[in-house]
Amino acid sequence: MKPSHTMVLFATLLALGCTPSLDDQVSVSRGADFFAENCAACHGTNARGDIGPDLTLLSRNNGGTFPEVETLATIYGPAYHQSRGTIMPEFGADDLGPLVVVEVEEGVGTPIPADLIALSEYLQTLQR
Ligand code: HEC
Repeated sequence: MKPSHTMVLFATLLALGCTPSLDDQVSVSRGADFFAENCAACHGTNARGDIGPDLTLLSRNNGGTFPEVETLATIYGPAYHQSRGTIMPEFGADDLGPLVVVEVEEGVGTPIPADLIALSEYLQTLQR
C-alpha cells in the first residue's frame, strides 16, 4: 500500500519530535494573523478598540502587568461569557491548534492551544 500524504506528514512530525513549526505556531506574527482574521473586526485593526474595547490598554488597566491568564480565559470562553451577556464570541470551541504546555506559574504547567499563546504574545507587544 502506498502511504498517504497524511501518513507521510505524520511520520515526519514524529521524526522531528513535535510539530516542525511549533515556534512558528506560537509566534507573534502568527498571533497577528490570527488577530487580523478573528478579532480586528470588533477590536480594530490596531487593537485600539471599536465595538470591542481597546486591547492595547490591558496592562495599563491591570496595574502595569499584562493579565495573561485572564486574557486567555476571556478569549477561550465559557466562564467569562457565562458571567456576562456579551457579543464577544467564544473561541475555545474552535480548533486553536495543538496544545502546548505552558508554565503559567512556577511549577504549574497548563496545556494551552498554540493559537491562544500566539495571540497573547502578539497582544503583549501592543501594550502601551
Ligand atoms: C463580535 C465582536 C468581537 C470579536 C470578533 C472579538 N471580540 Fe473581544 N470583546 C468584544 C466586546 C464587545 C468586548 C467587551 C466585553 C464584553 O462585552 O463583555 C470584548 C472583550 C474582550 C476582552 C476583554 C477586554 C477587557 O478590557 O477586559 C479581550 C481580552 C478580548 N475581547 C479579546 C479578543 C480577541 C483576542 C479576539 C479575537 C480572537 C476578540 N476579542 C474577538 C467583542 C469582540
